[in-house]
This record gives sequence, structure tokens and C-alpha cells, in this order.
Amino acid sequence: MPESNSTDRHFGNHDGDRPTQDARPAQNIAVLGATGSIGTATVDVINHLNVVDPQNRWCMRSASGHRNLNCLTQMAQSVQDAPAHLILSDAQAAADYCPPPELANAKVSVGAEALVEAAIDPAIDIVVAAIVGRAGLESTLAAFEHGKRVALANKETLVVAGPLVRERIEKSGAEMLPVDSEHSAIFQCMGTCSSKPKRLILTASGGPFRTWSTDQMDAATPESALAHPTWEMGPKITIDSATMMNKSLEVIEARWLFDLPADKIEVVVHPQSIIHSMVEFEDGSVIAQLSPPDMRLPIQYALTYPRRLPCQSPPLDRTQTWDLSLEPVDRERFPALDLGFEVARVGGTAGSVVNAANEQAVGLFLNGEIRFTDIVQTCRRVLENHSYQSDPSLETLLELDRWARKETLRCCGQIA
Ligand SMILES: NC(=O)c1ccc[n+]([C@@H]2O[C@H](COP(=O)([O-])OP(=O)(O)OC[C@H]3O[C@@H](n4cnc5c(N)ncnc54)[C@H](OP(=O)(O)O)[C@@H]3O)[C@@H](O)[C@H]2O)c1
Repeated sequence: MPESNSTDRHFGNHDGDRPTQDARPAQNIAVLGATGSIGTATVDVINHLNVVDPQNRWCMRSASGHRNLNCLTQMAQSVQDAPAHLILSDAQAAADYCPPPELANAKVSVGAEALVEAAIDPAIDIVVAAIVGRAGLESTLAAFEHGKRVALANKETLVVAGPLVRERIEKSGAEMLPVDSEHSAIFQCMGTCSSKPKRLILTASGGPFRTWSTDQMDAATPESALAHPTWEMGPKITIDSATMMNKSLEVIEARWLFDLPADKIEVVVHPQSIIHSMVEFEDGSVIAQLSPPDMRLPIQYALTYPRRLPCQSPPLDRTQTWDLSLEPVDRERFPALDLGFEVARVGGTAGSVVNAANEQAVGLFLNGEIRFTDIVQTCRRVLENHSYQSDPSLETLLELDRWARKETLRCCGQIA
């Protein structure tokens, strides 16, 4: 991990480490990406747990925001115990930030390196990895290296560096608890049986373009791609859902999370987003996990595992007729799926390259620079243009991430 050179700013008396009078065991949580869709839902869950689990003190001890620092303030003000540490990962946005008086005792750290500091803080029990994209990699890896329980939303860490994550967990004894609803579902289904699964079946909503032709998708606007039919999420994952690159990233995530080869993973389309995924066992039994599409359930389970506590997510409405359909993915209209399976099969540097190309291409699409269907085609081209290595170091993966972003710009005619 890089040596820390983050900047700390001190406002007030900075008594975050003062022993508390409260004798209840504390669950000290670092929410990295507290201002995002998963981050704000996590804050909601923490507040809820303090109601339904009063024998523990659920505490957001540290919280990070990047650009949306008003939201960081709101999150920090909404919890029972004010965070002892605020991380402002974007130095430019941090320049004008001044915490309100009730947060004056918090330590404030600025810069990306401060995310690593927060992740390895000995006072932290659980790290919620909720930063979007490759930006969450170093802090998530650091949390694994330091033996934390990691509630993992940042799937990109496993996509880029799955084997390095597994290595760190083996050495440190860290716990990896999935937050992605599909992987949480599989994790819950596997808990019902001690045998290795025969197959994992990931469900996909199909996104907003499930029934669109390729010609229609060619002309898709950012607004239409951002209108997800069942989930409210941040913009990057919402576009990934529309291209089905999100499902590809999830196939790669599942490959490393559950240490199963790609040919034991399948994807089916389930537009209602009620069955979150399934596991098939050797005897042919298929176990599924069902709940309404609400991320507070998998987030809470990752925090409280192995305990199950009442959740804010509403129960399934059993007074209505259930319409639960499963259909195969049309891989011609959604070529991202083949790409994801290929990356899951070959591993090595492929994940880092495809992830970076996708992040860059999604940005270009949102800025109106490329067509919707160019996103996946560009990822394929960039993957094919790179020099594959089977057992790369972290430095090589980061170097290739930088290369793939530039190569994406080149392939899209943005630079010479
Ligand atoms: N949303 C979901 O339902 C869902 C479901 C499953 C998995 N996930 C995964 O969870 C992760 C977060 O997704 P999301 O939907 O919550 O995204 P989001 O709403 O866009 O939030 C992203 C978070 O990351 C922060 N951030 C952005 N760029 C950053 C950078 N360069 N350095 C540090 N922090 C940065 C943002 O800060 P600011 O807002 O302050 O700029 C925000 O806190 C993704 O990996 C996604 O795939 C999300």
C-alpha cells in the first residue's frame, strides 16, 4: 500500500478517540463512499440497527465523500454518534469544505490516500466498500490486508484484482461479505448446504433496454439508459445495467468471490428483480433467495452476519398474484455477457483492462461523445489490443488501468 501522504485538517478539539461512557459493544464502521446510493442506504441501515439491536452500538466512525460534501455533512449529522473521522477524497472539492459545529471534533483528512488510512484504522471493525469504480481498489485491498470484515459493494475491486484479494484474505483472515444483491443471495443460498455448489445462477433485470433492438440501442440517449425499471442506483452502475456490463462484472465478481470457474456460472434474465440469484446443487436442487428490490437487506446482512434482524425493506406482498419469469439472455443484443465470461475465464490482466475501458467509455457516453452501443464494442477492442499477462502484480494492473483509459479515448477518436 502507498505510504500515506493525505492531509489532515483539524477543526475544534478532536476528541474522536475519547473512551465512551456507553458500555454496549460498539460495531465501528467505516463507510467509504458514504454519499452514494449504497453509502446513504448504509447510513439508513446503521440508524435502523440502533433501533432493532439496542444491545450493540452501531457507529459510523468514519465516512468518506468525494464531490458531494453537502451530502457527507447530512449523512454525518444523521447518525446517533457523530463520526470521528471524515475523509474528503477529492482535494479540490475539499478546499471549500468547513464542517458544521456539531462535527467540529471530527478529524478531517483530505486526499485519496486518506481512504486507505480509514480502511486500516485499528478502531474500525467493518469497512463498507461503497466507492464506485477502480477508485475504491486501494482502500478495499487495504481493508482485506488488515483483516477487516469488508461489506463489499465495490465489485470493481474483485474484477480488477480478484486473485490479490483472495491472497490477502488468506493471509489476514479478513471476511468478505457481499453487498451486491445477487452475490448476497448466492451467499445466503450456499449457507443452506455444506457441499460445493454445482452452478451459480445470477439473475439480471435486463435493464431498461431488455426489449429494445440493436438499432434502437444505437440511438439510446443517456436519459433513457439512466431510467432503470427496478433499481435506483448511481449513474455508472445504471449504465452498466443497461449494457449488461454490470452482469459481466458480476460474473467476474462471482468467479473470485466464490472461487468457482466461469463455466459454473450462468445468467438468466428475471425482469421483476425478486429472485436475486440461485444456486444449483449436485442433486439438482436449486435454492433461490427472494426479497423486494431493496439494497438495505443485503447491506444489513453483510453488517450483522450471521445474525438476521428485522429489516426496513418491506416484505414480499403475498396477497397479489406473483409474476416471476425467467428468460435466457440475448447475447447478440447484449455482447457484454460474452466479454464478461471470457474475462472470468482468462483472469490475469483482462479484468483490469475491461473495467478501465468500461469506466472510460461510460463517461464518454454520458457526455454525449459516443453511442450507447460503442461502450461494449470499445471494451472488446481495448481488451484485444492489450498484452495479456496471466499473473500480474498490483503495479502492472494499475499501469494497465491507466493504459486502457487512454486506449479507450484513442479508440473512440478522442485523442490521436
Ligand atoms: N447502487 C446500488 O444499488 C448497487 C448495487 C450493487 C452494487 N453496487 C456497487 O456499489 C458501488 C457504489 O455504487 P453506487 O450506485 O452507490 O454509486 P454512486 O451512487 O455513484 O456513489 C459512488 C460513491 O463513490 C464516491 N466516489 C466517486 N468517485 C470517487 C473517487 N474518484 N474517489 C473516491 N470516492 C469516489 C462518491 O462520492 P461523491 O458522491 O461525494 O462524489 C460516492 O460516495 C459500485 O461499485 C457499484 O457497482 C451498487
